[in-house]
Amino acid sequence: MSTEMPHFGDFPSPNHTWERQLQKGSEGTVHLFTHKPSASFFVVKHMKSKPDVIPMDVQVLRHTRNAASIVKLLGFRRNSRTMRDSILLEYCPHGDLHDHNIKHAKARTDYTEETLWRVFLQLSQALAFLHTGFGSGKYGNGWMPIIHRDIKPENVLISRINPSTGAILDIKLADFGLAAFYDPESDWMRKGAGTSCWWPPEQNLENCSATPAGDVWAIGALIHAMAHTFMPIEDPEEFARWWVEEYGWPREIEEEGMSEWFVWEAMVPRKVVSINIPIEQQTLGSSERDRRARPTPRYSSLLNHHMMRALAMDPAQRISALALSIQLEIDFDIFKAARKREAKKAAEAAADRILELKRERGAAKELEPEAVNVDSVPNSDDEVEDEVLEVKNLWLGRLRRR
Ligand SMILES: Nc1ncnc2c1ncn2[C@@H]1O[C@H](COP(=O)(O)OP(=O)(O)OP(=O)(O)O)[C@@H](O)[C@H]1O
Ligand SMILES: [Mg+2]
Repeated sequence: MSTEMPHFGDFPSPNHTWERQLQKGSEGTVHLFTHKPSASFFVVKHMKSKPDVIPMDVQVLRHTRNAASIVKLLGFRRNSRTMRDSILLEYCPHGDLHDHNIKHAKARTDYTEETLWRVFLQLSQALAFLHTGFGSGKYGNGWMPIIHRDIKPENVLISRINPSTGAILDIKLADFGLAAFYDPESDWMRKGAGTSCWWPPEQNLENCSATPAGDVWAIGALIHAMAHTFMPIEDPEEFARWWVEEYGWPREIEEEGMSEWFVWEAMVPRKVVSINIPIEQQTLGSSERDRRARPTPRYSSLLNHHMMRALAMDPAQRISALALSIQLEIDFDIFKAARKREAKKAAEAAADRILELKRERGAAKELEPEAVNVDSVPNSDDEVEDEVLEVKNLWLGRLRRR
C-alpha cells in the first residue's frame, strides 16, 4: 500500500503538533495539526482501517490534485498495529457551509447573489472534473467517472472569505467517504446510505442507485437552500403526518428499523421554488413560511434559470455538470459586467444628485463632479457598494465642509 507524503514527511512525527479536534463524525474524528518546519496547518481524518481496503477519500483524491475546488490530499498512512487510518488533507480555515448557513439563518441575513454564483460555479467545476475528468488532463481519454453521492453543506468547506465582509469567496468539495467510481451497470447505494433529503427525485428507498445527475441535483439543492433557507422538498413533518394517517407507518421504519428522519426525507416529494420572485409576491404555504428564517431576496432570473436546470425533476432533462460549469462561467461574467454598469449608473446618479444639492446651496464651481471617476468600475458586490458609498461620501463630505 502506498503511503505517499508529498509535503509533511512521515506521520505522525516530532515535526507535527496536534492543535485540536475539529469534528467527530460517524466514521471517525477530524483533527487539526501544525507542521512545525513550515508553520502550516493540515487536517487529519482518523478512522478505523478496513482490511485490504484503501479509504474511498484516498482512492478518489489521488486523482483530483489538479481540481481547484476539491480538497487536496496531502498523504495517507495506515497503522497496521492499531488498525487506524490517517488521511492528511489541506486545511480549510473557515469551517463548512452548514455552519455558515446556520450563522446566516440565526442572524437573518442573506447571501449576496455573487456568493451564490461563486459557490454554484465552483461546485459545478468540481463535479465536471469528477464526472468527466475535465481539467485533469484525462478528459475524454481514460477518465473513470467518479460520483460523490453525499453532496450537502457539511461536506463543502470554505477555504477563503472576504476579510472585511466575511463573504464566501472560495469553497472546496470534501468528504469522499461515500464516493464511487461510476459504473451504470452496477452502481448501487447501500439502503440507508447518504443523506436522503439531498437525494434527487428519481432516487428513493426502492431505487437507491446514485448517478452523476443526482450529484447535479444536489448542488442545485444546495444553492436553493442557501437562497431560501429551505431545501427543494416539501415539509417532511407535514408529509409524515399525512402519510401515517393515509397508509400507516412505512415498512422501513416499522420492520427494518431505519431512522425515521431518513425515511421521511427520502419519501417526501421534491418541490422547487424559484429564487427570482419579488419579496411581496412570495406566496408560500403555512408550513413553508415556518421553515423560513427570513424572506428570500430577489435573485436574478439568470441565476434562477441555471438553478432550475440543475433541479430539473426529470434526470434526462437535467443539465450535465460540464455544461453547467461552462454556462455558469460565461453567465457569471455577464452578471458581473451588468453589475459594473449598474454601479456606474448609481455612481453617476449620486454625483448628479449631489451636484443638484450643490447648485441649490450655491456652492462653488470647483465642486463639479469630475472628481467622480465613473470609469474605475468595481467588480464584486461588496466593491459595488463600497464604490457607490465612496462617491456619495466624497461629495457629501465636501458639501458639509463648506
Ligand atoms: N480539510 C478540512 N478543513 C477544515 N475542516 C474540515 C476538513 N475536513 C473535514 N473538516 C470538518 O470535519 C467535518 C467532518 O469531515 P468529513 O465530512 O470529511 O468526515 P465524515 O466522515 O463525513 O464525518 P461524518 O461522519 O460526520 O459525516 C466536516 O464537515 C468539516 O466541518
Ligand atoms: Mg461529512
